[in-house]
Amino acid sequence: MARIEKLPQSVVNRIAAGEVVERPASVVKELLENALDAGPTRVDVMLEQGGIALVRVVDDGGGIEPEDLPLAVAAHATSKLRVAEDLERIGTLGFRGEALASIGEVARLVIRSRPPGDAGAALEVDGGRVGAVTPHGGAVGTTVEVHQLFGNVPARRAFLRAPQTEWSHAADAFVRTALAHPAVAFSLTHNGRQVHDLPAAATWRDRIAGLFGSSLAARLLEVEADDGEVAVHGFVGRPEDDMAGTRLQHLFVAGRPFRDRSILHAVQQAYRGLLLTGRQPIVFLHFDLPPDMVDVNVHPAKMEVRFRDPSRLYRLVLATLRSKFLASDMGTRLVPPTAPQAGRGGGESSRIPPDLFASAAPEPDGAVPGWMAAPAMPAWEAAEPAAAAGPGERAVQMHDRYIVVETADGIEVIDQHALHERLLYERLKASVAAGSVEAQRLLVPERLDLSPAEMELVAEHTETLGAAGMRVEAFGGSTVIVTSKPVLAGKTSAATLVREVLDRLSAASASGQMLVDEVLHGMACKAAIKAGDPLSPAEVDALVRDRRVVAESHHCPHGRPTSLTLTRRDLDRQFRRT
Ligand SMILES: Nc1ncnc2c1ncn2[C@@H]1O[C@H](COP(=O)(O)OP(=O)(O)OP(=O)(O)O)[C@@H](O)[C@H]1O
Ligand SMILES: [Mg+2]
Repeated sequence: MARIEKLPQSVVNRIAAGEVVERPASVVKELLENALDAGPTRVDVMLEQGGIALVRVVDDGGGIEPEDLPLAVAAHATSKLRVAEDLERIGTLGFRGEALASIGEVARLVIRSRPPGDAGAALEVDGGRVGAVTPHGGAVGTTVEVHQLFGNVPARRAFLRAPQTEWSHAADAFVRTALAHPAVAFSLTHNGRQVHDLPAAATWRDRIAGLFGSSLAARLLEVEADDGEVAVHGFVGRPEDDMAGTRLQHLFVAGRPFRDRSILHAVQQAYRGLLLTGRQPIVFLHFDLPPDMVDVNVHPAKMEVRFRDPSRLYRLVLATLRSKFLASDMGTRLVPPTAPQAGRGGGESSRIPPDLFASAAPEPDGAVPGWMAAPAMPAWEAAEPAAAAGPGERAVQMHDRYIVVETADGIEVIDQHALHERLLYERLKASVAAGSVEAQRLLVPERLDLSPAEMELVAEHTETLGAAGMRVEAFGGSTVIVTSKPVLAGKTSAATLVREVLDRLSAASASGQMLVDEVLHGMACKAAIKAGDPLSPAEVDALVRDRRVVAESHHCPHGRPTSLTLTRRDLDRQFRRT
């Protein structure tokens, strides 16, 4: 048997580093948190090679006293906690006193700092070896540089992805932090190119606009509620601004971004009836609650938090969003939420008491919860009279979303959106393949404000967009203009198409033909008639006739079925006629 020995501190640090520092994005996050804890007015972030070669964070905050520099890089040394009870009421982003020690273990770390009214000093740590404190005469504040992450740990370095992938994670970390601290000015530069330049924002909406474009921000709905102890404030997207991915879903508590499946589940439930399966709403929510109701010390990288009463937040989110939608023209489309599935695994806070829906959430105005009231259903008589769909086929639109067709040997029920989306997709695909997409020049080009990341996507995919009939041109600053769109897109605005496509491109890790498909799916999805669109008999007719194009595959591009068939034999059997 080997003898048991206490590990040397350097080994302990390196093990801890594995928990805190996973990739450049974790370095960005830790350095940003340190900068923010120092009370800065601005923070500048610079990366090289996705952050693998360099992460530099410069702040104009309170700085570090020269004699404290060695402590700043020592494990379990912090200026933010003194006694164990402080853990119960953490008011800073950092508190463990291990981020810099961990980073210094797996990279070359250089800190230069000057507190106001004092001389500055610098200190370097390389693979755990701490150098001497030297004088430094810079501006007030702190600059921290992390060079060659995992340069001394080849095994960890091998796990890093391509610089482009690391960059996108690092940029996400920046975006989350910048969202959480609108009053601080930020910038982000990658390989010498400035990607974000965010002035201090007066409102949260302004910060969202700075990061994602002002047209997106202007369309968001503001929500605010308070159940006496927990307050929530933020913005949610209109259903028609739905997304293919979760990139625009952000939760914060006390200036800290966090992940929480349970709260996102409540959001999904609130949107029930408003979104198609697989589509994601935009949400930015900030929670305020007493410090003893939330524990931030549950995750090594502080990505998750634990709430004392998770179901309370669940109910608050559900009720707040629902009452917002009920008060709008979307109210009639809402579908009652389903009871959450208990024990779906995941974090602690994703466990929801199964009796949650027995104790319905309190509505802000004390009224009956909105989803208990029956949603107004379109009446049957609203359907158009039967349209001639082809020889021997009668077709009727029902509930403004389904078309029922009498076929030679039964009935077919068509999802109008799914079918139309599929048709548009097939046609676009065929014409792109033939190099003959019929594009329509716009008399008035549409302007679009984009985020810097979206500008990059446009630059990268101009050709693919062009092949699909969409000409997108730079217009200066963060604005592009769309000068043409495919004729097949009908009345759908070019801006809507481009937004959807960018959204998909940023979520996709595809390339080549798969990328083109992603673009076509996005366009087809936005251009297709929606559930809820009333159709004229001629339109019903055309759709039913054209469905033969996709007869061989009854699925829309998302993989949702486009139609259901009931044969006469099925019907006869159901009614016991045979
Ligand atoms: N940019 C900065 N400005 C001022 N002080 C800083 C800065 N960065 C680090 N420090 C000082 O260095 C100490 C150590 O930082 P470190 O990130 O290692 O620990 P922490 O922030 O206290 O806790 P955590 O490990 O949870 O991040 C901090 O407590 C703080 O006093
Ligand atoms: Mg820290």
